[in-house]
Amino acid sequence: MQRYAQITGWGMYVPERRLTNQDLEKMVDTSDEWITSRTGIKERRIVAPGEACSDLSIKAMDQALAVAGLAPTDVELVILGTSTPDYLMPGAVFLVQDHLGVRCPAFEIRAGCCGFMYGLVAATQFLAAGACRNAVVIGTEIISTYLDWTDRNTCVLFGDGSGAVVLEATDTPSGILSYEMGADGSGLDWLVIPAFGSRYGVDPKAFETGDVYIHMQGKKVFRFAVESMVEVTRRVVYKAGLTMDDIDLIIPHQANARIIEYAAKMLRVPMEKVYVNIDRYGNTSAASIPMALVEAVQEGRVKDGDKVILNGFGAGLTWATTLVQWGKVEAQMLEAGFWQTVLGQARQVNARARDLVSNVSMLIAAARSS
Ligand code: UT7
Repeated sequence: MQRYAQITGWGMYVPERRLTNQDLEKMVDTSDEWITSRTGIKERRIVAPGEACSDLSIKAMDQALAVAGLAPTDVELVILGTSTPDYLMPGAVFLVQDHLGVRCPAFEIRAGCCGFMYGLVAATQFLAAGACRNAVVIGTEIISTYLDWTDRNTCVLFGDGSGAVVLEATDTPSGILSYEMGADGSGLDWLVIPAFGSRYGVDPKAFETGDVYIHMQGKKVFRFAVESMVEVTRRVVYKAGLTMDDIDLIIPHQANARIIEYAAKMLRVPMEKVYVNIDRYGNTSAASIPMALVEAVQEGRVKDGDKVILNGFGAGLTWATTLVQWGKVEAQMLEAGFWQTVLGQARQVNARARDLVSNVSMLIAAARSS
């Protein structure tokens, strides 16, 4: 029997400090009008000095565990998607795992804004294979540390935050029904923080050149984002044997409201079926999809049985889209159970009929030969 990974818990955390477009107007040559019309962002959250990736992750995870009703010591796997961990080595995920008080496997995924989505797919495979009964998947980003606050091209776009989900194994169709993910490293330069990996080394020159900061070729990434969101969403819906009309809500990576609106138009999906919260948080990279999912659930936009598209794209370049069936689906379960029973009984009748025919043939053959 196929095993699924149901999302049973969700949580998010954003730092206290709000940075509004009006605040940014005092820092660089920009305007609320430009930022709002070009990106949809009104404000973003920025970490306090000393607040790091694991701090945000733990707060989001604790909330998700409370919703799931899962004890921290019962967690069997932790995956953290982030490009901004506490330290270069080892991963921030080990601080998160240590907080749980259980020695479970834990690893990090660096796939730009798709870090959480890659983690969601990976955890689902672990659960489907029976390798573990539950997993926590987190997406956290503190991009503000790597922003050049004098560069208006980038500093107005990003924010900090964290989102987390708990997955639990089930036989009921739930969680990811279909997905598609991929990467194209030929676009690595389009969105990159060049320092201080092994190529660059620990070179103070990086401060003079600005290589400690995030660099983005916005227009190229914009085109890639729209194309990816449209194409990959179509393929994932098709793979599940559904049409766009069957989709209840699309929760895309919150990089730019214009990307989301273009893509929705091309997919012929009304904006009422698309979740957007970029106005309040900016682009939080790997955290944006789980954060948007949490808010969509809390606002009642996602109900049991809903089919939800989670759509990610970003640095790498990477893309990852999943079609998720939300909650436990009792009606479908009953229907599936009913048809399974009918099918099973039909097979049994068929097998018995074959046995009967074979027995009668043997009896006839035996009668002839006697
Ligand atoms: O999460 C990972 C994925 N990331 C993305 O998907 C981001 C994709 N890219 C984008 O969202 C958009 O390309 C941006 C929001 C980054 C930029 O929007 P754009 O419409 O592509 O603007 P642009 O870069 O072509 O800049 C247009 C003008 C330029 O001025 P000139 O050269 O035409 O005089 C910029 O200098 O806007 C100027 N500009 C600004 N003006 C006021 C750029 N940033 C600002 C700013 N305030 N903050």
